Amino acid sequence: MKSWSALAFLWMAYFYQGTLSCPALCKCYNRRAEVVCNEVPLTEYPSEGLSKNTTMLTIQFTNITSISGQHLNATPLLQGLHLYSNHLQSLSSDLLRGVPHLNTLDLTGNKLSALPANVFSHAPLLSLVLKNNQIETADAEWLPNDSSLTWLDLSGNQLTKIPAALLQKLPHLENLDLSKNHLEKLSGNPLDFMTKLERLNLKHNKLITLDAALFQNTHNLTYLFVTRNKINELPKNLFRELTQLRVLSLDDNQLSHIPDGLLDPLNSLDDEGLDLTDNPWRCDGSMEYLWRWLQKNKKKVFLPENIVCARPQSLAQRSVMSLTESELRSQS
Ligand SMILES: *[C@@H]1O[C@H](CO)[C@@H](O)[C@H](O)[C@H]1NC(C)=O
Ligand SMILES: *[C@@H]1O[C@H](CO)[C@@H](O)[C@H](O)[C@H]1NC(C)=O
Ligand SMILES: *[C@@H]1O[C@H](CO)[C@@H](O)[C@H](O)[C@H]1NC(C)=O
Ligand SMILES: *[C@@H]1O[C@H](CO)[C@@H](O)[C@H](O)[C@H]1NC(C)=O
Repeated sequence: MKSWSALAFLWMAYFYQGTLSCPALCKCYNRRAEVVCNEVPLTEYPSEGLSKNTTMLTIQFTNITSISGQHLNATPLLQGLHLYSNHLQSLSSDLLRGVPHLNTLDLTGNKLSALPANVFSHAPLLSLVLKNNQIETADAEWLPNDSSLTWLDLSGNQLTKIPAALLQKLPHLENLDLSKNHLEKLSGNPLDFMTKLERLNLKHNKLITLDAALFQNTHNLTYLFVTRNKINELPKNLFRELTQLRVLSLDDNQLSHIPDGLLDPLNSLDDEGLDLTDNPWRCDGSMEYLWRWLQKNKKKVFLPENIVCARPQSLAQRSVMSLTESELRSQS
């Protein structure tokens, strides 16, 4: 009898502690080191019941509107914080002071606009995702001088420019996503210290050209996406250092011609790795370089027959590759 009640007591104690140390509406795994609050009617940060041992915290598709440094002080061992699709509107500059091991911070799909200086300075972040917010201005002061970031995603915001000083703080970056913003130019050699950059996504912005020196130090660049901008001019030596480039998308731009020699350094392109479709190509003598390059490198090009002339009228809609030498010459 005695042992039965002791057992019941133990069971109750276990149950009680169990409910206490996982926040209401959330699920805990791995002895409460991982906490997931997924699509539940939370409106505030779930402080109550979070174990001090939490290393991974996910709060997604909830209605929480704020998170503070004080909240995070309760989980000093935190390494990953995923805050996908909540209603966060601002962050304070001391947010990460109490989480000295945090390496991953994902704030995708919130309502962040302006962020204060030093907001990401206090943790050794490797991965920072600010995708799909409402950020209009990016600031070099967000980050520490010795940032260890390898992954930065600022896609889906409202940036019209990106300070070179911000990107120059990121010598370890391997992946930079600036797609779906309103960027008009990238000036001041922003990539100069990014010798490890492998993947750069500039899709869906308003870029008109790219500076001749932009890629002079990014020798390891492997994937470069420039689809859906307003590029109408590319400098002759732009790709000179990109000997590792496997994929280059320049489709859906305003290119009517490219300078002689532009594509020659691209020795590592994958099959179908280069996309030049959806540009208003002008099929006159200035097209001769691209025409010859396509004949030689057809396999490297995505849908080569879909690279078509926009002008002159007499050749409109003709595939560039199908032109004869005399047709090209007759237009010079
Ligand atoms: C968030 O709030 C809205 C409006 O009050 C509600 O419709 C929605 O169900 C809430 N989300 C969750 C995950 O509870
Ligand atoms: C935290 O982890 C330590 C060591 O693994 C363990 O002894 C302790 O009970 C844990 N604390 C909580 C609240 O889970
Ligand atoms: C960061 O670098 C800038 C420019 O080099 C310098 O002025 C500033 O003092 C540095 N900040 C810290 C905290 O070291
Ligand atoms: C470039 O990539 C190669 C192969 O992945 C790697 O060995 C090398 O360290 C990289 N260079 C830099 C500067 O990161």
